[in-house]
Amino acid sequence: MTVDDEASAIHGGEHIRGLLSLRDLSVDTIEKIVLRSLQFKKGIKSVRYFDKKMATLFFENSTRTQFSFIAAMINLGIVPVQINTSVSSLMKGENLYDTIKTLECIGYDGVIIRHSSDRYYDELAHGSLEIPIFNAGDGKAEHPTQTLLDLVTIYEEYGHFEDIKVCIVGDISHSRVAHGNAEIMKRLGMDVYISGPNEFMDNTASYIPLDEAVTISDIIMLLRVQYERHKEEMKISEAAYHINYGLTKSRAARMKDSAIIMHPAPVNRQIEIANEVVECTKSRIFAQMKNGVFTRMAVISMVLDGEL
Ligand code: NCD
Repeated sequence: MTVDDEASAIHGGEHIRGLLSLRDLSVDTIEKIVLRSLQFKKGIKSVRYFDKKMATLFFENSTRTQFSFIAAMINLGIVPVQINTSVSSLMKGENLYDTIKTLECIGYDGVIIRHSSDRYYDELAHGSLEIPIFNAGDGKAEHPTQTLLDLVTIYEEYGHFEDIKVCIVGDISHSRVAHGNAEIMKRLGMDVYISGPNEFMDNTASYIPLDEAVTISDIIMLLRVQYERHKEEMKISEAAYHINYGLTKSRAARMKDSAIIMHPAPVNRQIEIANEVVECTKSRIFAQMKNGVFTRMAVISMVLDGEL
């Protein structure tokens, strides 16, 4: 046995249970999660777990993701515990792996993590973690349960994914939602475009001017400007952003009758979207939030039942 073999024998495999990235999942599995979410929503499926507890460990702000994971746990009979990262031993220099291993040792059945580093979970894979980890967003890389709840909302609307045209609009280069969504949407056969200020465009998908996007898209998916990840100040003012790159009332009025508006939220009204458009008939912004709870119920239960 080489030293490396011995190390991997001691530390176990490189596989972490849970849901870290949708890139690891097949289209079939993703569709199964979407359908399971809708079964929970329709009340066709209900599951209760006993004697299980899970922790949320959030290193970035969150209202929707954290509290919909907590609502999902409560609906499944799992006791949720919120860890306050600022008073945890991470502040005493403990690393993330040792913190998670501690949660495992003291009897937690899962941990939901949001972290500011892309792929923070890679460094955890070399140990012996058995506790499932649910990725609630890693830097600007991915936000798997947001992508899944977006897919649930799209499937609910259209009944399929193939050939649906979506334009993701805004701060693409700093957005984990844009990066994660575009990859899987393309795999599902959707036509994906991006739009917004030049300074925020990257190679996530083909660029299309916003005034063209609103007339041809089935879905306009807006993003918040991700100020917290900017190294420099945005080049244009918020007022100019709204006029040039926001979904104004007049742009919303030019969308197809059947088209819908999505946004992962938090919404910055009057910047990426006009106040009046947030709850207009085309908007699915609050429907997305509702679906988030059922989607997280599906993901947690499938992991606990060994289906994921
Ligand atoms: C998103 C996130 O955190 O990536 N929000 C969310 O989870 N609903 C998008 C954002 O913060 O703009």
